[in-house]
Amino acid sequence: MAALIVLTSISVLSLFSLGCVAALSLNYYDKTCPNVESSISNSVKSAATKDRTVIPALLRMHFHDCFIRGCDGSILLDSEGTNKAEKDAAPNGSLHAFFVIDGAKKELEAQCPGVVSCADILAVAARDAVVLAGGPTWEVPKGRKDGRISRASETAGLPSPSFNISQLQQSFALRGLSTDDLAALLGAHTLGFAHCSSFEGRLRNFDSTHDVDPSMRPSFAARLREICPLKGRPRSAGATMDPSPMTFDNTYYRVVLQGKGLFSIDQALLTHPKTKTLVTRFAASHNAFVDAFVRSIVKLSSITGGQEVRRNCRVVN
Ligand code: HEM
Ligand SMILES: *[C@@H]1O[C@H](CO)[C@@H](O)[C@H](O)[C@H]1NC(C)=O
Ligand SMILES: *[C@@H]1O[C@H](CO)[C@@H](O)[C@H](O)[C@H]1NC(C)=O
Repeated sequence: MAALIVLTSISVLSLFSLGCVAALSLNYYDKTCPNVESSISNSVKSAATKDRTVIPALLRMHFHDCFIRGCDGSILLDSEGTNKAEKDAAPNGSLHAFFVIDGAKKELEAQCPGVVSCADILAVAARDAVVLAGGPTWEVPKGRKDGRISRASETAGLPSPSFNISQLQQSFALRGLSTDDLAALLGAHTLGFAHCSSFEGRLRNFDSTHDVDPSMRPSFAARLREICPLKGRPRSAGATMDPSPMTFDNTYYRVVLQGKGLFSIDQALLTHPKTKTLVTRFAASHNAFVDAFVRSIVKLSSITGGQEVRRNCRVVN
């Protein structure tokens, strides 16, 4: 046991000394690209004016980026040759706001070429998206580097919407995120939309004893079955995770308390005393939720992993 602890601390130390852990700071670009934040904010704002759905898409994209190889812009790389990239793997459901990052990068390359990483652009854009949806603001630490690897197969490491609470805790712990972070970050599901394929496993033939997931309110399940018929539905069929999908509020937690969480993971938050307490607290207090969300997203957003500053967010240098 003692040997194990020593080994672990040696490998953590060597990670630091090899420089794999980039130090992030709030004023990282003050000298090299002083208008970085306002430039990104303008790009996000103008895109969101034309298409509101980029708001949830940017937030989700940042999460997926950070969960695979750290926040290194790996989600932004295009498939190339025989390499199928993360963005072309199955859990890419609603990922579609890549053009916003391309636009912001183009502006920044004109102002300060080769300086601002794609991973930083995405982290700032995700914050701006939350603000545009009426959510809290926060200062984004910057200085992430972009990675050179993006593999579709690694998206298998993303948590699944049907995970139970212990699988969720484990998946978050692997990234240094706690049970508190889990409860707060899932509040991001106050924004956006999900396709039927992401939740229909709960609606029919759930398990050997239940047709419908017993953690789902029956009237809610009946409505979702109509939205997601087995045959003849458009590819775009689905539902929002919360009745106010464009407003960043605490409604998500109220919905979960009513048995109207869209995914199994949402209801799973009620199966552990710690997360259940947090869901109840966040449902009662918008401020308690946003304070916790901001703390946790800064943590998520600070998992680093890259090596370079890409010139084009879709290809390695
Ligand atoms: C256990 C972790 C999570 C799982 C399993 C999960 C799963 C999902 C699924 C299945 C969808 C619907 C995709 C579709 O059908 O199109 C979705 C959407 C979304 N997720 Fe999560 N999620 C998780 C955590 C997070 C976190 C931590 C964030 C952000 C901080 C986030 C932000 C979003 C947003 C904003 C959407 C809506 C996307 C849109 O409308 O374009 N999710 N998530
Ligand atoms: C999602 O992945 C599929 C293949 O699994 C691919 O054909 C599609 O272009 C991808 N969508 C986006 C938005 O990248
Ligand atoms: C969660 O799922 C895993 C894998 O299926 C299982 O081993 C574990 O017992 C489950 N945990 C809970 C709390 O249901």
